[in-house]
Amino acid sequence: MSESALLTADEKQMIVSSYRLIAPISETVGDLFYKRLFETQPQYRELFPEDMGKQKRKLMTMLAFIAKCLDWTEGQWRQNVQPDEDLFLVVLALGRRHHVLYKIPDEAYGPVRASLFWALEQGLGEAFTKELHQAWSKLYTALATSMQLGAKSSRIKMEFGYIE
Ligand code: HEM
Repeated sequence: MSESALLTADEKQMIVSSYRLIAPISETVGDLFYKRLFETQPQYRELFPEDMGKQKRKLMTMLAFIAKCLDWTEGQWRQNVQPDEDLFLVVLALGRRHHVLYKIPDEAYGPVRASLFWALEQGLGEAFTKELHQAWSKLYTALATSMQLGAKSSRIKMEFGYIE
């Protein structure tokens, strides 16, 4: 049977623990990520603002929020969750902004994944084991799929005649 695409409880905890290692060096990991992205995909540089300081912090804040959500217990998910605390809704809206405001095509998610994983590997060193790589990989696929769904929902909205 093929391996499940769903993150297991162990995989979630692996990601949460690895994020605790990344948090104190998040500036460096952010720098490495964008440096690698712009070296390998120079055409993406113009999509971002000149000063990348704010952008780096926004990305790392989002990763911290994602790690916090993965650490939730089953019980917490069953309680009433505010929309701005609901990982799926937050990521859908993020994907919608990437499509509508930043004009990011679905194809860009692959190169961004490669640069992010390269930066994680640099930051975590030997702690970035094969199992941890697989867990982050599943997480990234879930994030990218949800963001692309958010993008698609805004395209459908346009087809219905909403003004964007
Ligand atoms: C899992 C994937 C991704 C995550 C978690 C992510 C996260 C973020 C966050 C948190 C922001 C801050 C602005 C906001 O919240 O709207 C942002 C902005 C942005 N992202 Fe992403 N992003 C992802 C994928 C991508 C991809 C594939 C690209 C393509 C190059 C991209 C390009 C941009 C650009 C151009 C901005 C706006 C910069 C600006 O004008 O301030 N992102 N992203």
